[in-house]
Amino acid sequence: MPSDVDLIDQLLDVCHRLHRAGMVAANDGNVSAALDDGNLITSVTNVSKGAMTARHVVKIDRQGTPLEDGKKPSSELRMHLAIYRDRSDVRAVVHAHPPYATGFAAAGLALDKCVLPEIVMTLGSIPLAEYGTPSTEEVPEAVSKWIGKADAVLLSNHGAVTVGADLMEAYYRMERIEHYAKICFIAGRLGGERILTPEEVDKLYRLREEAGMTNRNPGCWTCDVQVPESCVGDVCVNFDEDSESFEQAAKKAVAEVMQSR
Ligand code: 13P
Repeated sequence: MPSDVDLIDQLLDVCHRLHRAGMVAANDGNVSAALDDGNLITSVTNVSKGAMTARHVVKIDRQGTPLEDGKKPSSELRMHLAIYRDRSDVRAVVHAHPPYATGFAAAGLALDKCVLPEIVMTLGSIPLAEYGTPSTEEVPEAVSKWIGKADAVLLSNHGAVTVGADLMEAYYRMERIEHYAKICFIAGRLGGERILTPEEVDKLYRLREEAGMTNRNPGCWTCDVQVPESCVGDVCVNFDEDSESFEQAAKKAVAEVMQSR
């Protein structure tokens, strides 16, 4: 376990990486991590993650009360606290606004198709939490619907949040989803990504099991809806052609199935 000083250094390193990678602008983003004594550290509010120094990190308890005078924790602290409450395995949370992933989130699109083996093997898929007003209880409420099943979640019209057993794991998950979103965007421009077949996905799951990987998996489009028919397996899509397309209706049906798992 890193000492408190090492953990602060790691948190600063992650903030600087987020800024260098263009995953945050101005004061965007916030990062937190769990200390051995049960308390947390988090970035203070309203600071560029590229300019963070140790004085921009504040120690707080699990209720969010600052344990240091004169430092105001991130305005998204409610979301961080709720994630630690929901997931006892999580020791670090990273929130950022990476442009491609946030573009998908702003377009109302989850990254929930099985396209790249690396994503199937590591994150499974990346769900989209419904919109919540930043800094309010609405954000943790929306995220908590997914965080039990996913290590990375897109936040509608806002950004993304990732979690990990340590800061670097949470950071690399953010890097991974941004890279993936960029690839999906490019594939979309080139005529659309080829979605892996259920057989191809099964093989990857087997490899994942053999490798002893126990990642969470919120489910995916490939496994839940393979072809646009009104009923696939036990997923039936009822839709009113006048008000929505089949694809919109299918997406809603898949989201319901994935949430109910
Ligand atoms: P803070 O500066 O309060 O952490 O907020 C930044 C942010 O990204 C809000 O979503």
